[in-house]
Amino acid sequence: MSTTRLPQDLLRTKRDGAELSGSDLRNIADGIADGTLSECQVGAFAMAVYLRGMTPRECAGFTLAMRDTGDVLDWRGLDGPVLDKHSTGGVGDLVSLALGPAIAACGGYVPMISGRGLGHTGGTLDKLEAIPGYNVYPPLGLLRHCVREAGVAIVGASERLAPADRRLYAVRDVTATVASIPLITASILAKKLAAGLDALVLDVKAGNGAMFAGPDTARQLAQSLVRVANEAGLRCVARLTAMDQPLADAAGNALEVLAALRLLRNEPGQMRLREVTLTLGAELLVLGGLAANEAEARRRLEDALASGAAAERFARMVRELGGPGDLLDAPERHLALAPLRAAVPAGQRGLVEAIDTRALGRLVVALGGGRTRPDAAIDHRVGLDQLVELGQPVEPDTPLAVVHAADASGFALARATLHTAIRIGEGPATPLPACLERIGVDAAGALA
Ligand code: URA
Repeated sequence: MSTTRLPQDLLRTKRDGAELSGSDLRNIADGIADGTLSECQVGAFAMAVYLRGMTPRECAGFTLAMRDTGDVLDWRGLDGPVLDKHSTGGVGDLVSLALGPAIAACGGYVPMISGRGLGHTGGTLDKLEAIPGYNVYPPLGLLRHCVREAGVAIVGASERLAPADRRLYAVRDVTATVASIPLITASILAKKLAAGLDALVLDVKAGNGAMFAGPDTARQLAQSLVRVANEAGLRCVARLTAMDQPLADAAGNALEVLAALRLLRNEPGQMRLREVTLTLGAELLVLGGLAANEAEARRRLEDALASGAAAERFARMVRELGGPGDLLDAPERHLALAPLRAAVPAGQRGLVEAIDTRALGRLVVALGGGRTRPDAAIDHRVGLDQLVELGQPVEPDTPLAVVHAADASGFALARATLHTAIRIGEGPATPLPACLERIGVDAAGALA
C-alpha cells in the first residue's frame, strides 16, 4: 500500500467521523485487495463506515477505487448499448432470467454479473445451476462470445472483477456490517462499473421480504445508488418494487427457472412478475437509447415476449454456456423434480390478508434450496409453487402452495410454516402495487 499515512491514521479519521480523501480511499481499497490491510483493519474500516457513514463524495471515491482494484471489461465493437439490471434481492425474484433475454431481443447487450443466495433471498446463479451443464463461471472468451451471439450472458463475477469487494464483503458478512448504505452502494456499483456498462436499472425491494423492509431505508439506498452511479458516469435509474409477498408464483431454484420459462413463453399469470419485468426493462431500453419513451419500450418488450424472441435468446444463452439445447421444448427432461410434491390446503375460507415473505424465503433455505454455510451444497429441486397471492379469496381446499420437498420431514416443516406465514382472514388485504417509486436524476444531475 503506497501511502504516507499509516492504516491506523486512515482508520482514526473515519472512526472520528471526518471525511477520507480520494487518495486515502484508493489506499484503503488497494490495501484490501492486495492484503496489506490485515483482517482486523478491514473489519475496523467496515465498522467505522457502518457507524459513521460516508459523504456522497467519499462513497463515489470508494466505489471507483474498488472498481479499479481489478479488470474493467471493454465491450467496444458491439452494435448496441451494454445494459444491466441489479436487484437488492427477494423471494421469487426471477426477473433477471426473463429481463436479460428480453433486452437482448430488443437490441441491447447484457453481461449480467449476478450473485448467489444471501440470507433468505434466492440467488440468480443458484437458479441457473439447476440447469444441467450451465457454466456460471465461463472463461472471459466464452463470456464475450455469449454476449455477442445471444445478446445476454448471466454469470458470476470473476475473481478479477473488483477483488477488493470480494474480501470486504466476506469481512462484512461476519462483522455485522452488511447493512450499511455506503458499503452496499460501493459493493454493488464497483462490480457494475467494472462490467463496463452504458446504463443500469436498479430494482430496490421494499416490504417484509426485502433487505430493508421499510420504504424509507429502501429509498435512501436507491438514492445513494443512483447518485453515485450517475456521478461515476453510469446512466442509472432505480425503481422501488414491492417485496411484501413473493414476486413469482414459485420460490426455489428449478421451480423459478420453470416460472421464468412460463413468462418467456408469454403464458398468462404472474402479473406482478410481468409488471416488474416490463417496468425495469422499459427503463433500460430508454436509458440505452433503444426506445424513445416508456410506452414504446413496453411495446417492444411485449412483442419480444409474444413473438418468442426473448425465449429464443434465453435458449441461446443456455446453449452457449453449456446447458441443454432443448431446454425450452422439454424442461421437464432436464430440471429434476423433488420426490415429494403435495399441496397444502388453506383449511379455511377467507382472503389472503398477509404473507410473511421472509419466512417463506427461510423455508426454501430450510428445505435445502439455500445455504446455511458458505460451502454447503444446494438441492435445486425443492421449494414452493402455485403460491397464493395477497388479496386472493380461498376455500378450505385451495392450496396455499404446492410443496416440493426431499422427504417427509421437509414437507411437515413446509406445511406448518405455510400456515403460520400466510394469514387468512376476512380482509381487507392491502398489497403494495408491484412497482412503487422511481428515482432518477434530472438534467443537472440532481435526484428527481
Ligand atoms: N449485494 C452486493 O453485491 N453487495 C452488498 O453489499 C449487498 C448486496
